[in-house]
Amino acid sequence: MTKLDFSDILKYRRSIRKYTSRDIEEDLLDEILNLGCRSSTTGNMQLYSIIITRDIEIKKKLSPAHFNQKMVTEAPVVLTICADFNRFNKWCKLRNAEPGYDNFLSFMTAAIDALIVSQTICIAAEANGLGICYLGTTTYMAQKIIEILELPIGVVPVTTITLGWPADLPDQTDRLSLDAVIHHEIYKDYTTEVIESIYTEKEGRSDSKQFVKENNKETLAQVFTDVRYKKGDNVLFSKAFLKVIEDQGFMNQ
Ligand SMILES: Cc1cc2nc3c(=O)[nH]c(=O)nc-3n(C[C@H](O)[C@H](O)[C@H](O)COP(=O)(O)O)c2cc1C
Repeated sequence: MTKLDFSDILKYRRSIRKYTSRDIEEDLLDEILNLGCRSSTTGNMQLYSIIITRDIEIKKKLSPAHFNQKMVTEAPVVLTICADFNRFNKWCKLRNAEPGYDNFLSFMTAAIDALIVSQTICIAAEANGLGICYLGTTTYMAQKIIEILELPIGVVPVTTITLGWPADLPDQTDRLSLDAVIHHEIYKDYTTEVIESIYTEKEGRSDSKQFVKENNKETLAQVFTDVRYKKGDNVLFSKAFLKVIEDQGFMNQ
């Protein structure tokens, strides 16, 4: 597999949810993970751990925690990326240093580190021709994942990436125009007119219209609020995740 031009990797990327049966060689995965771990990291502490799952039995256990999304059992490699202060705390205690990391800020710090390393791994994988897909279900079902992967106190799973050789090339998804997301110098709040102009284009796309129709909704926004990311689910999973953060030792102060 030849390496792709860097701009093209970013420009043409898309999430891949179907994979061939081809495995990912150990050396290639190591190279990708090494590149990922060159990411910036708070204070050079590397406050993350990456659990590699190749074993189909463990994938089958993880599958319900990811709402049975097929990628979990079909991808040759599943990576669970965790915010991890456990390793650092242990080192501090061994070296007569008192860790003060049992608080929400420290959780956020480790979660940010974990997400940065995740994205660099994704780019490195895509540069090598692999396909990736993030799984947001990790934060919804963190407690289940903690049990399956035997994560100790100080460790919280924050995202999952499935990795494999692409079995299809789905259409690229749209993005808002740069104007919609960029603010110059200070935040310029969105007027109704600007919101109209930003989202009218998205709503006018044939795939958006199809999405609204399939979900029996009147507007695209309703597909998000009433079907995909509902308030009830958000509240339920928020409460569960807050408990996980507390149980894993990040809310003691
Ligand atoms: C944090 C995060 C969680 C995601 N969770 C899921 C998921 O659970 N299932 C899925 O099929 N795609 C998931 N995705 C992929 C997004 O749906 C995808 O990135 C988005 O629709 C844009 O498509 P693209 O990546 O092909 O450009 C997730 C992406 C992110 C960043």
